Amino acid sequence: MELKMTGEAESWIWICIATGVAIGWLIYMMRKKQKEEEEMESGVPRGSSGWPVIGETLDFIASGYTSRPVTFMEKRKSLGVKGGDSSTMAVVGCSGSPELEQWRRRADGVEIAFEVLVKLILSVGPGEEFNLLKKEFEEFTKGLICLPIKFPGTTLYKSLKAKERLSSMVGKMVGERKLSMEKREEKWLPNDAIDVLLGNADGAKQPLPSDFISGNLIEMMIPGEETVPTAITLAVKFLSDNPVALARLLEENLELKQQKISCCEDYSWTDYMSLPFTQNVISETLRLANIINAVWRKALKDVKIKGHLIPKGWCVLASFTSVHMDEENYENPYNFDPSRWEKVGLAVTSSTFTPFGGGQRLCPGLELSRLEISIFLHHLVTTYRWVAEKDEIVYFPTVKMKNKLPINIMPIEQNPLIQTKQN
Ligand code: HEM
Repeated sequence: MELKMTGEAESWIWICIATGVAIGWLIYMMRKKQKEEEEMESGVPRGSSGWPVIGETLDFIASGYTSRPVTFMEKRKSLGVKGGDSSTMAVVGCSGSPELEQWRRRADGVEIAFEVLVKLILSVGPGEEFNLLKKEFEEFTKGLICLPIKFPGTTLYKSLKAKERLSSMVGKMVGERKLSMEKREEKWLPNDAIDVLLGNADGAKQPLPSDFISGNLIEMMIPGEETVPTAITLAVKFLSDNPVALARLLEENLELKQQKISCCEDYSWTDYMSLPFTQNVISETLRLANIINAVWRKALKDVKIKGHLIPKGWCVLASFTSVHMDEENYENPYNFDPSRWEKVGLAVTSSTFTPFGGGQRLCPGLELSRLEISIFLHHLVTTYRWVAEKDEIVYFPTVKMKNKLPINIMPIEQNPLIQTKQN
């Protein structure tokens, strides 16, 4: 049987389709408006939840691959919460030790930073034990950002196994230290993070359980391992692109070096911290690089903040990048300009400068990081000249240089200050 459609029937079908689409669109718009009104009434921040399951993840990731990752946040600025001022800080100590002097002879920032970290946390220096710790730690950290699939052979599985071995190594060190402390009678000063956490240097504190201490020591190593080398690499990148800033940095550091040579003195922490322009270079690097670009917080109960409601169970992404790239906070925020800090004074942390977070979870590695970067820059600029290859910054999943910023480095043979002035 042959079915033939008359022109009239065909028109009716088109009218029905068009009416259906129009009604569907009307319902969608009405529901959207209703949702917005409900949100306005409840105080929940306005915006879209995006696609089912994946939400706005793809947009978020895509913005991380552009040179302006902050565009994602700029579109969603309705909340506009800024960091707080209060802070609780536990500083991991460090002195101007001879080990740090070895930086002069080393080139790989990640390697050096890990060495310093392990020395400060566990008092383990280069050698067999250090190599084993490093191997297990590297295997463990590979699983921090990976597919959540756990069976033999997968990254996550191998990472968890490495964490077990690492925990037992660190646990053993904590146990041994505890024993040797118990035998010691006289008062002593803590020498590393194990001593601090064992915590009874003055005999006053309640001891913490050993497995809690080893867990904390390992957790301390994770944020400390990548962050400082990344900051150092980005400082080198920004300085390579800004010869004027580099010349000022060199001048200030050469003055210190010449003073140390003429007085035959060793370097101390206060020497590095007293270099104002160097500290400004570090602040500007941390502001512009946004190594930890944001932190996540989950609301454990309904929270009211600046007139908005964050319902229980919601996650909030506090974007440090948005704060650091806001024109209201910084003039020409995308320019590397260390001298901008001369107007505001040395910034460690404030509501508009949050590279180390803020509040109760302020980074305990803040002082150590600034010190490590200062030492590195001091030896780099006063001992070498370099030419950086062309490279660009990527912001996802973490901030890094696309090609690891290869540099051609050469020792300075004559007085570099004179060379710079002649150039
Ligand atoms: C340039 C270098 C560094 C940057 C930019 C940085 C940044 C941060 C930020 C933003 C936080 C807060 C995270 C949050 O609020 O959830 C944090 C926490 C932390 N950082 Fe750092 N960090 C650096 C170096 C270090 C170093 C060298 C160490 C270890 C010695 C370290 C140890 C920690 C620890 C243990 C925490 C967790 C604190 C807590 O949850 O209470 N960081 N860091």
